[in-house]
Amino acid sequence: MADPFTLLAGVLRDAFAAATGLPADGIDAVVRPSDRADAQANGALALAKQVGRSPRDLAEAVVASGALDQLCSSAEVAGPGFINVTFRAEFLAAQLDESVADGHLGVRRVADPRRVVVDYSAPNVAKIMHVGHLRSTVIGDSLVRLLEFVGHTVIRENHIGDWGTPFGMLLEHLVDLGAHAETVVDNRDPNAFYQAARVKFDTDDDFKARARDRVVKLQSDDPVTIALWHQLVDTSAAYFNTVYEELGVLLTEADLRGESTYHSLLPQVIERLREADLLRVSDGADVVFPPGYTNREGEPLPLIVQKGHGGFNYGTTDLACVIDRVEERKATLLVYVVGADQALHLEMVFKVAEMAGWLRPPVHAVHVGFGNVLGPDRKKFKTRSGENVKLQDLVDEAVVRATAAVVEKNPDMPADEQAEIGRMVGIGAVKYADLSTDRVKDYVFDWDRMLAFDGNTAPYLQYAHARICSLFRRADVERTSVRSLVPHLDEPQERALALQLLQFDATVHDTIERYSPHRLCTYLHDLAQTFTAFYEACPVLKAADDSTRSSRLLLCDTTARTLATGLELLGIEAPERM
Ligand code: ARG
Repeated sequence: MADPFTLLAGVLRDAFAAATGLPADGIDAVVRPSDRADAQANGALALAKQVGRSPRDLAEAVVASGALDQLCSSAEVAGPGFINVTFRAEFLAAQLDESVADGHLGVRRVADPRRVVVDYSAPNVAKIMHVGHLRSTVIGDSLVRLLEFVGHTVIRENHIGDWGTPFGMLLEHLVDLGAHAETVVDNRDPNAFYQAARVKFDTDDDFKARARDRVVKLQSDDPVTIALWHQLVDTSAAYFNTVYEELGVLLTEADLRGESTYHSLLPQVIERLREADLLRVSDGADVVFPPGYTNREGEPLPLIVQKGHGGFNYGTTDLACVIDRVEERKATLLVYVVGADQALHLEMVFKVAEMAGWLRPPVHAVHVGFGNVLGPDRKKFKTRSGENVKLQDLVDEAVVRATAAVVEKNPDMPADEQAEIGRMVGIGAVKYADLSTDRVKDYVFDWDRMLAFDGNTAPYLQYAHARICSLFRRADVERTSVRSLVPHLDEPQERALALQLLQFDATVHDTIERYSPHRLCTYLHDLAQTFTAFYEACPVLKAADDSTRSSRLLLCDTTARTLATGLELLGIEAPERM
């Protein structure tokens, strides 16, 4: 089974091969959805040139061969040699019947499942989770769901910042306060603790010296220091978890694999780089020069792996992490959902790992980067006092605003239901606003836009889904009861809806190949609009006869399933009433 466009491309490829005598596997029929008909194929243009014929001639020959007759009710040659085709309603109905029956909405499972590590969220201990972490968390979580849906095995890894020199001052500050981390690190505002430590470090020489000693104690596994460190890490982990639970993402404590996980492996990284003859000394530090990277002055740019006085770097940890993911966890695809500002760092890490032979085909690593969240002033999103926006404050406000909208729409609904739906709508709106713009771009955080019940928003899609659910309640029809029949697609709006539904498969795979959830969002929005056009033109409950009514109910049910599944793949809940 495949979507109609892929099937058409296959049939055309064989027809072009027959008409030109060229081998079929080298032929691309260049099939695209079209406004004039269902699809347009432009392949004749390039192929005719290869065999010295006129493209119109070749296109005419393919149409006349009758190869398209089974799939298409009409095929016409236009312009310089385009073929415009309209699919047969029976063909679309049969395809839809298959995808309804397979329980997976026609989405193919991959032929070569991989073990995929998805590195996402990755906030830092004793620091706030800000909107940058929101992006990584939301995009990463959607990719995890998508990859699993098509049959890959996914290993979630939360590479939190839980190690390194800042812990010297953090731990020493904790010692000075003489209390358990839980009571002094305010999880609603963890930065306060961090900043207090920072101020002391910058102004108090005695403290600074103690902080430096503390780093040494931490790195040499001094038990008292490690116990204090655990307090800090556990307190933060509990905070991250609360946020993940509120957001409804898949990450749990079991997925924590912070920088500290790799610290005992760092000397081995240096050893292995030395054995591979990749280590160089630059400004007193051990570095690797991956070819092709230069600084502004045009000098080779190094990845520093060990500082002069022996300390290791962020990059060393990332190298250890590559080794662990490939050699221990046996992953063949490493996905890093990290802000675009770390692109150079990750590129250099991947390059060095390749040079050392740790990252070799078929194993490969991808950086799924993303832009910034902007405030209404188009600058980095900050609070009015200029601080980073706390993720929890955002979530809280989203739920409050969405609940108010739900209460207004459904004044008679029981309060606990209003609250539950408000939660789904509010969180869905925040996630969808993030996922629906091309991730590489910045986007402006705009409450009114993301919570609007029309436009490319979560509430719009959730509402479209809930409306279909309510239709079935009103009709008192069990949704599963309509799934065994084959729809008939007589009206253009029925055909259009079926054709849209049949593109779910291609959309899911395309979204995964590009690591771009906004493609799925665009599809779902188009689907909801196509459904509205259908619903306006084709009466469902008041259809002329029973068979038309059932056929239309099937289209409604499949639309609702596709919307709910699509939203779920984005990590968004779909309430049944709204
Ligand atoms: N903790 C880092 C930050 O907040 C992100 C870590 C990303 N993952 C990685 N393997 N480097 O910027």
